[in-house]
Amino acid sequence: MQITISSGKTLDGSGEENLLRTLKKGGIYLASSCGGKGTCGKCRLKIVEGRYRTAPSGKLSSKDTASGIVLACQTFPESDIVLDIPKESHIVVGDVLEMSRVSDLLASFRSSGGSLSPLVEWVRLRMDPPTIDDNISDLERLRKNLDAVGCENMRFPHGVIASLADSLREASWHIQLGYTEGPEAVMVKPVSRCGKAGLAIDIGTTTIVLYLVNLDDGSLVDACSTYNSQIRIGDDVITRIVYATESGGVAELQEIVVNDLNTLLLSLAEKHGVRLDEIESAVVAGNTTMTHLFWGLPPGYIREEPYTPTVNFFPLWPAKTVGLKIADLAPIYTMPCVASYVGGDIVAGVLASGMHRRSGISLFMDIGTNGEIVVGNREWLVTAACSAGPCFEGSGIRHGMRATEGAIEAVAIDHSTLAPAVRVIGNGPPIGICGSGMIDAVTELFLAGALDRKGNFIIERAPGRIREGDEGLEFVIGSNGGRDIVLTEVDIENILRAKAALFAGVSLLLKKVGLALDSIERVYIAGGFGNYLNVEKAIVMGMLPDLPRDKFRFLGNTAIAGAYLCLLSAEKRAEAEEIARKMTNVELSVSKRFMDEYLSALFLPHTDTSLFPSVENLLEKI
Ligand code: FES
Repeated sequence: MQITISSGKTLDGSGEENLLRTLKKGGIYLASSCGGKGTCGKCRLKIVEGRYRTAPSGKLSSKDTASGIVLACQTFPESDIVLDIPKESHIVVGDVLEMSRVSDLLASFRSSGGSLSPLVEWVRLRMDPPTIDDNISDLERLRKNLDAVGCENMRFPHGVIASLADSLREASWHIQLGYTEGPEAVMVKPVSRCGKAGLAIDIGTTTIVLYLVNLDDGSLVDACSTYNSQIRIGDDVITRIVYATESGGVAELQEIVVNDLNTLLLSLAEKHGVRLDEIESAVVAGNTTMTHLFWGLPPGYIREEPYTPTVNFFPLWPAKTVGLKIADLAPIYTMPCVASYVGGDIVAGVLASGMHRRSGISLFMDIGTNGEIVVGNREWLVTAACSAGPCFEGSGIRHGMRATEGAIEAVAIDHSTLAPAVRVIGNGPPIGICGSGMIDAVTELFLAGALDRKGNFIIERAPGRIREGDEGLEFVIGSNGGRDIVLTEVDIENILRAKAALFAGVSLLLKKVGLALDSIERVYIAGGFGNYLNVEKAIVMGMLPDLPRDKFRFLGNTAIAGAYLCLLSAEKRAEAEEIARKMTNVELSVSKRFMDEYLSALFLPHTDTSLFPSVENLLEKI
């Protein structure tokens, strides 16, 4: 059966495979934050022609159904199909925000005196070809030439030797040999083939981000991202650990994430004319569970007391170990982990923030799927994870999305009329709302008197703007071609839960190390907020501590930033290892005090308003 997308592309479909999977196989990614369970309602598409069977869904209105809108994950073709993909269902690949942030990162890396020292070093050799009088083996000839330039005791794995004869002759004996620590040969190629490329990879529980990097000058060639397809097994790490452990799903989960990476990789390499077999190295950052699953290691003991990962410091393993489609022997460096729930993504984040080099005390908050916090300075670092949930990445929020083009990233609400004004990433029509937009919207609704302190709508405040929707009361933030983008009361409940977990984590961690809030000199915020987070509003909501606003620094996705730095520099890799060794993990999940703190933080901004003096003042004025 043929599946034709009205923009022109045609794919092979089958009655046994839902349209979400068929499109994904064809490199077309739809928003699918529930992983294809039919519960998020984000994988909408319109069937223009053809027969199909689909499961009824509460996520679609009768108007949607009448106009041929279906959920791709619940729809199977029964004939050739022609379909339309609405803009809001597309995942934006090639993120403009990422590109601009990375150029800043590279500039600061260079200005701090950083020099390029990737995982693979290269040596160039002009060798004499064999003759009848000089017919030693190719390997011996290569060794002799390496010895002559001081590159001794090189180890040659079978993969390099197996292709050596052809490689040397194709290069007319004028070669460059890439090698990694050991030293161990990685690949041999002609000197004429220039251009070195590597990958920085962030494997998040919800999303995967991949950078293709030019290792000649350290610049970013392109960036792309997708949802982590493991979501179809479960939204959170615990469900995936259970699946891996009880259903023997380690290999399956590994294959899923590697497939996601390979699909992203193929499209990037094709777009930029990069040969996959010449991508020489990669750095992977992920939380401890994601890292274990990427390497096919059983994660079972991560969730069992006393919470032990199999590995925190990973050896350099070659790409072929996991089936990543780059050079077979390309070394993959894994960002070191700290504990079961504090992984390489946080080590990468601390590295990118630079807090480990400062004498003053900093607070680092990574607001992703889990919500991790780190406090410390160049002498010491303590960390904790606080189970905030993935709502700021768009999961579990009716029109939630990641901070990419089309996302409402800022919201202001007129306090008398409740009319919203929004700013959209890319300045086009809005297609959803991202984390920073959610924080703005909740805070503005609260300050405008349309939400009570528990996050319930006060309908009398604006009966026209707050309306009864499919999932209870909702507020229309924007609209696009007749489609309203709303924030529901259920969304607000999820947002308040996430912010309460974060604030409770910060509060309890500081108490554990005996520090008062005002001892913090800087607060670094990381997470999927795109380029913008209104700190003022995040404080009013009670997510961030009430500290002077100039202490806050917003850093974006620091997991990929740290991975990128480690791809470029041996010095950064050594720093990352030092950070991981130095960091002490505090288990909050087993603490009864954490639950008390969490319950107190579920209000706007908090049950104890004395913790938020500036918000108290503001509310008094209003
Ligand atoms: S409803 Fe289809 S992916 Fe969530």
